[in-house]
Amino acid sequence: MRVDRFLSNLPRFNRKQVRLLLVEKRIRVDGKIVSDPHAEVREFSRIEIDDEILQVGKPLRHFMLHKPAGCVSATRDPGHPTVLDLIHEPDKDDLHIAGRLDFNTTGLMLITNDGSWSRRLTQPQTKLSKVYYVETEQEIGPQYAATFNQGMYFAFEDLTTQPAELDVLGPNTARLSIVEGRYHQVKRMFGHFDNKVLRLHRESMGPLTLDPSLKPGEYRPLRADEIELI
Ligand code: URA
Repeated sequence: MRVDRFLSNLPRFNRKQVRLLLVEKRIRVDGKIVSDPHAEVREFSRIEIDDEILQVGKPLRHFMLHKPAGCVSATRDPGHPTVLDLIHEPDKDDLHIAGRLDFNTTGLMLITNDGSWSRRLTQPQTKLSKVYYVETEQEIGPQYAATFNQGMYFAFEDLTTQPAELDVLGPNTARLSIVEGRYHQVKRMFGHFDNKVLRLHRESMGPLTLDPSLKPGEYRPLRADEIELI
């Protein structure tokens, strides 16, 4: 929410006082003085007035997981193991998944407690490309690339997908780059040609690529330089 809103929600300040506090540069968000009333604050931001803490904030955490097949991209599931079961960290309830994968899809999964970071990563406007390695049941025809690149109409959502790039690697294998993350998007795109996806593996999301040293089921924290890329 906006910083002026956060401050005027506190019982001790009215709107006029809030404006003044900002103009007088008495408010800090995550250690930086903020005077713009529109500046965004998050539930994890540390917010201070002078030397008094108004909101403690929590350390932001970001992890990269190599999702194995046979686990659910959810924080809880009554019947199956979830990706969160693979993460051994305190305060797991604070974490959420930035960009889900299907039960049998493998590859790069990002898990964080940083809501605005994950929004930047997943919102369609950001147009970050997600790259998938795909293996299919039937041969991949020469017409696929142009069809994917034109965008495909998804009747259920009543939308046309953004242009996607297909790089055919072999008769039944390809690398596909898409900018959205619609429900079962890759399978539905190949499904248009009645071609079943047998294996799907996410290699990268925007500038973040799955660390080749991570085996399925393993994870590691992101480095500061990786977090800043998003
Ligand atoms: N598209 C799919 O069909 N499944 C996934 O898991 C990811 C993208």
